Amino acid sequence: MRLLSLPLCLSWVLALCLAAPPHHKEGHSDPHHKEDYAHPDQHGHPDQHAHPEHSHHHDLVRCSGIEFDAITLDEHGVTYFIKDDHLWKGYRGSSEFTNQTFHELHGSIDAAFRMHHKVKPEDHDRVFIFKGDHVWSFYNHTLEDGFPKLINSEFPGIPYELDAAVECPSGECKTDSVLFFKGSHVYHYDLLTHSVKEKYWPAVMNCTSAYRWLERYFCFQGTKFQRFHPVTGHVSEGYPKDVRDYFMKCPDRGHGDKTREALFGRCSGKPFDAFTADDEGKIYAFRGDYFLRLDTKRDGYHYWSITSNWKELHDHINAVFTWDHKMYFIQGDQVYIYKSDVHYTLVEGYPKPVEEELGVKGPVDAAFLCGDSHLVHIIQGKRMLDVDMSETPRKVVKEWPLPFDHVDAAMCGAEGIRVFIGDIYYEYRSPMLLATSRMQPFPHKTRKELLGCDN
Ligand SMILES: *[C@@H]1O[C@H](CO)[C@@H](O)[C@H](O)[C@H]1NC(C)=O
Ligand SMILES: *[C@@H]1O[C@H](CO)[C@@H](O)[C@H](O)[C@H]1NC(C)=O
Ligand SMILES: *[C@@H]1O[C@H](CO)[C@@H](O)[C@H](O)[C@H]1NC(C)=O
Repeated sequence: MRLLSLPLCLSWVLALCLAAPPHHKEGHSDPHHKEDYAHPDQHGHPDQHAHPEHSHHHDLVRCSGIEFDAITLDEHGVTYFIKDDHLWKGYRGSSEFTNQTFHELHGSIDAAFRMHHKVKPEDHDRVFIFKGDHVWSFYNHTLEDGFPKLINSEFPGIPYELDAAVECPSGECKTDSVLFFKGSHVYHYDLLTHSVKEKYWPAVMNCTSAYRWLERYFCFQGTKFQRFHPVTGHVSEGYPKDVRDYFMKCPDRGHGDKTREALFGRCSGKPFDAFTADDEGKIYAFRGDYFLRLDTKRDGYHYWSITSNWKELHDHINAVFTWDHKMYFIQGDQVYIYKSDVHYTLVEGYPKPVEEELGVKGPVDAAFLCGDSHLVHIIQGKRMLDVDMSETPRKVVKEWPLPFDHVDAAMCGAEGIRVFIGDIYYEYRSPMLLATSRMQPFPHKTRKELLGCDN
């Protein structure tokens, strides 16, 4: 018998999910074990149990262990899990027929991905769906003109009857690309040159679906999944893992630590240690051992361990700023400098004492640098110290008294300067206005305005 189709009210939108910090298994001191996973299952939506008897039945079905044909995000950040002619939205929804969302599709599909190709706006953000020798392109749940087409006319050199596909934007892959999987074969398709390179990735399973979430790549087979690197095919330690603990809400399963989440989770209101925005518009927030990206609202938020991005950084950091494509982390009296590329790599010879690098005695409370400026503004207690990064040796070129007793964090981005104190922040248009304003500006709620929390 087929699964029942249920009302749409049980479908879940992933975009506003609340992600749990990953659970640390006891006895893991090796930082690699602090690996972390997609798990945006803590929605907190009020209608979670709207139809308990139905949702129970359906959760059981999804949680009983399904090998999905395809998993993809759409242009609104909703994740679709697709199996035969059924589709699940988000990590909790019940199943519907695929043709309720994609009217022109009949029966099962082979693979799907969300295109990332900004230089070709007519393709960017489309959901591409593969079945047999054809490809469909959907936007706003509408089939694009000219589709379905033969796969070969849209993606020359890519075989029919695929198993999986996933986008790989430039920055994560060298250029905007798509990875196609068929059996043990992996094809790297360059969207600019249309060249196809076959990869030999012995560590990656034969994926039956593949999914990119918040710049991380996952390969699924049966109820197992792996995290893999989209360029090297390296599989992260500790995999495979069970899909039901991470990518769906199943009774008595999961990996999150509820107590820790209440204390440190996105909406806990606890102060952050540091914020920074990099040249690509990525905005990072740091709290304890974790960081999250504030610019990924559409696809959801998730806490990842700091060591998973910046290997040498353990424990909480005091301040961070970005200058000349490098991230400067200040921890106690040491500064760590990372080159920002596809991976963050520690510059040789670091960490070094803050005093040697910046001419300021650590520790510090916050630091920020605006746009193309070479002045870094370092906040220490009630004062702000300006250090000119273009001079050697570096020294304080100006000192300002601040109208605050203590600042937790500060950043400078497209919206100007933000100074964080407890669970609120203030905005300023320039460092001078921050230092000289007599009137405190309007207080913004960090949680609500930057983290998508309800209050
Ligand atoms: C949608 O799919 C279901 C199951 O495959 C099928 O029974 C139904 O007729 C389809 N609806 C339309 C409008 O094609
Ligand atoms: C999306 O489709 C609906 C109808 O299905 C239409 O009313 C709406 O204007 C479309 N939006 C865009 C952005 O094309
Ligand atoms: C992976 O796919 C290849 C065909 O390309 C097949 O020979 C092999 O048995 C598959 N391996 C597994 C573990 O399913």
